[in-house]
Amino acid sequence: MIRANIKGCGSYLPERIVTNDQLAERVETSDEWIRQRTGIRHRYIAGENELTSDLATKAALAALEHAGIDASEVDLIVCATATPDETFPATATVVQKNLGVIKGAAFDIQAVCSGFVYGLAVVDSLMKTGQAKTALLIGAETFSRILDWKDRSTCVLFGDGAGAIVLKAEEGKGDTSDSGILNTHIYSDGRYHDALYVDGGPSSTGTAGFLRMEGKEVFRQAVSRMPEAIDTALKTSGLNAEDIDWLVPHQANIRIIEAMGKKLKLPKERVVVTVDKHANTSAASIPLALTEAVYDGRIKRGDMVMMAAMGGGFTWGSALLRW
Ligand code: ACO
Repeated sequence: MIRANIKGCGSYLPERIVTNDQLAERVETSDEWIRQRTGIRHRYIAGENELTSDLATKAALAALEHAGIDASEVDLIVCATATPDETFPATATVVQKNLGVIKGAAFDIQAVCSGFVYGLAVVDSLMKTGQAKTALLIGAETFSRILDWKDRSTCVLFGDGAGAIVLKAEEGKGDTSDSGILNTHIYSDGRYHDALYVDGGPSSTGTAGFLRMEGKEVFRQAVSRMPEAIDTALKTSGLNAEDIDWLVPHQANIRIIEAMGKKLKLPKERVVVTVDKHANTSAASIPLALTEAVYDGRIKRGDMVMMAAMGGGFTWGSALLRW
């Protein structure tokens, strides 16, 4: 049975760090308010000429190097992003050109903060149907471009960055002892559009627009939907929460992450947290957190890793894998 095996990961963060105190010079806020409500201490913001594809390409190159795989082997590039360089073509095709890849397919996935989990589901499926053998899955965002920097309730929450993984289609036994993606579950519910959206786009206003959010509603939904998706992932593979070595959740808010950890009865030490440093980088947040925990030696080969995300749409989902 074909299994999508993860061979390596990598990430890239822009050079510029913006602290909460620096934001407090622009809008009526404080380091204390931001840290208490969200856990965020600072975020990285892309340079004026730095595009989502630039961040994505750097993360992809780091992942290929970590995997020891040459770009010429790649036959699928999926980029999860809600902040593409242009309306079209897909940012993934720009990355494809940057990497000198001239075969296979490249396309973007738009599921906002759930984009990376959606991407895992898509790559897994394409590998199982024989469409792809070596894939790059990237989460890359420049959310700083769609923030209303006068709106303190949203501009303090997000940052820019990119993370990537390299996957290979390999034969496995078809049980939970295999490495690679074990199962994915993705969901959406369009009735929640107004809770989190961008008030612009090519067919509505002709502008890029700004992010708008009802924070409390997002919070309420996030702390129930993500644990539900995790439960489904565990049941599908006949596992219990104790079998999870690492939870690598979408990094939106430390209070959401802690609530999820509590629901699963997972000790804090087994939950990867980067929201303090990166803020919410949407589709990039999970691969950024994953890369940090792999590179610093916390996540080791053979570990069971659970991912869960939720974002605008609403979209949400989970992915269970053995590293
Ligand atoms: N600095 C200071 N005060 C602020 C700020 C700020 N940056 N932002 C809002 N406030 C004020 C509000 O105006 C309000 O003042 P008022 O009581 O005088 O009206 C007060 O703080 C409380 O505001 P609330 O919105 O009620 O604060 P809450 O405790 O709900 O926290 C937050 C807001 C942090 C946005 C929270 O709702 C949250 O984390 N929601 C989840 C949102 C999220 O993570 N979104 C990411 C995208 S979706 C995802 O990734 C899952």
